[in-house]
Amino acid sequence: MMTPKALVAGNWKMNGLKASTQEITRLNDLINTSGAKCDVLICPPFTLISTFAGLGAENVAIGAQDCHMNVSGAHTGDISAEMVVELGCKHIIVGHSERRADHGENNDVVNAKAAAAQNEGATAIICVGETIEEREAGKALDVVISQVKASIPQSATASNTIIAYEPVWAIGSGHTPTVMDVQEMHKAVREVLMSRFGASGAGIKILYGGSVKASNAPELMSVPNVNGALVGGASLKADDFYGIISAYDEIG
Ligand code: PGA
Repeated sequence: MMTPKALVAGNWKMNGLKASTQEITRLNDLINTSGAKCDVLICPPFTLISTFAGLGAENVAIGAQDCHMNVSGAHTGDISAEMVVELGCKHIIVGHSERRADHGENNDVVNAKAAAAQNEGATAIICVGETIEEREAGKALDVVISQVKASIPQSATASNTIIAYEPVWAIGSGHTPTVMDVQEMHKAVREVLMSRFGASGAGIKILYGGSVKASNAPELMSVPNVNGALVGGASLKADDFYGIISAYDEIG
């Protein structure tokens, strides 16, 4: 079975000013010196994309945290996929639970944003995940599977789609699901991808996100069908983030 190359992606959320550029330079240097067995991506706020992409840091791809569903038009304050692709982004996160919660984005909106990203030639990192209430009610699998099915657009192919499973209650909380729970969820997501995309569904990365740090990364990243991580807090400092990237030295 084709196993995709792992991706460790950082989501900086609403953090970072120009001074943070040194973290990208440092991360690039760490990878130059000590290597990385996975692909590495940083998604800074929109305001830093141009600066970071302009560094020419060959080991660190730069992506975006969101895009509008339309190509252009009267949408004050919004940013289109075409705009971030022009800056050098090849990945765009869509449907993060903070966007779903803070901006009322439902699966239809996420689906349209993923399509917008893919139509510009970018890979959509489509985020899904259950709340604590949904998990405690035994509905986690159903919720996540229906999010995955409804959020993947018609334009999706195995090469322009990544899924990030991020339990809402694990984000920024220091809590993570058990290895068994992660394994069960990623297996279920893989089955959806295989039924949608056929054999090529095996090559779609399924990232785990939510309180990933250097100390738990080796265990979480070793779970079958976990093809990398989406990291918030621990991605802001190059040394912390490199500790997660290094998990792949142990896993091989
Ligand atoms: P966290 O965030 O690593 O700080 O928990 C993950 C995310 O929201 O992508």
